[in-house]
Amino acid sequence: MESKAQVQSQNYAADIETIKEAQLRIGPYIHKTPVLSSTTLDGLAGKRLYFKCECFQKGGAFKFRGASNAIFSLTDEEAAKGVVTHSSGNHAAAVSLAAKLRGIPAYIVVPKNAPKCKVENVKRYGGQVIWSETTMLSRESTASKVQQETGAVLIHPFNDTRIISGQGTISLELMEQVPEIDTIIVPISGGGLISGVTLAAKAINPAIRVLAAEPRGADDAAQSKTAGRIITLPQTNTIADGLRASLGDLTWPVVRDLVDDVILVDDRQIVEAMRMCYEILKVAVEPSGAIGLAVVLSDQFRKSDAWKDSSRIGIILSGGNVDLGVLWESFGV
Ligand SMILES: Cc1ncc(COP(=O)(O)O)c(C=O)c1O
Repeated sequence: MESKAQVQSQNYAADIETIKEAQLRIGPYIHKTPVLSSTTLDGLAGKRLYFKCECFQKGGAFKFRGASNAIFSLTDEEAAKGVVTHSSGNHAAAVSLAAKLRGIPAYIVVPKNAPKCKVENVKRYGGQVIWSETTMLSRESTASKVQQETGAVLIHPFNDTRIISGQGTISLELMEQVPEIDTIIVPISGGGLISGVTLAAKAINPAIRVLAAEPRGADDAAQSKTAGRIITLPQTNTIADGLRASLGDLTWPVVRDLVDDVILVDDRQIVEAMRMCYEILKVAVEPSGAIGLAVVLSDQFRKSDAWKDSSRIGIILSGGNVDLGVLWESFGV
């Protein structure tokens, strides 16, 4: 069996160099997000917790790091015809904002079931919304039609070296802000976020543990780890609308080799964690962003080996785009 050091010397989609280059490239555009802590939450978890607040990132999610790295990597010639992507939310807004800063058009294919607040973000940043059906097939075929018609460059939400490198800049910041952390808990969907975070964190400290936080109703990463190959689910069922995608061929090798474990929680635990973010941390976090707190407070985590070996845990609060309209409607407001 290969050691971690050997595994790390393999070729993955990004490495510490591409991640440092991304940090230089996007530095002028992104927020360096704060790390918050709470004695109350430390008491509940029985560990020291460090919340990396990507919900305060521009566009309300970490996605702006990858999107701005991809868009500012394009040559003027490549960028001239604009960019296109398909996304139900945070990546779409991030691409719109980065394209606006670069001064180029952004064509955003949005499935009909996307949360309203996220579609509003796309429009606010000047992205042109093109509706598709909700299936991945319809999203992809609509995006490729737009690409053919406009000549725009496709910016994939996670299966892209530039995106993974951009997301990895979170670890460069976090490990400078809290060098003593021994564990990082990261929400997982397509795996762009966790791939970047893991590749940077383990290059800086090979002993650091990275745990994926995944909803039980979209547990393809956990199933893939067990099966040893990418598993895609026929359907998903979770409140975490940002965590419904499956792994890609660039993100899977990192998840397979370097992510230490995938911990599953159900929607009830996610909603409770969201409530704690509001009430205790005083931070607006969306379901996909609060899942790391749900994991650290879960019985599943307490029963794991990672629980015994960790004492200072970084938790990525990955996004804060909450559809309050839906909440108000449920109260008849
Ligand atoms: C708030 C939030 N957290 C986490 C993720 C997961 O990111 P990735 O698809 O790179 O795993 C997403 C993806 O949309 C997201 O919007």
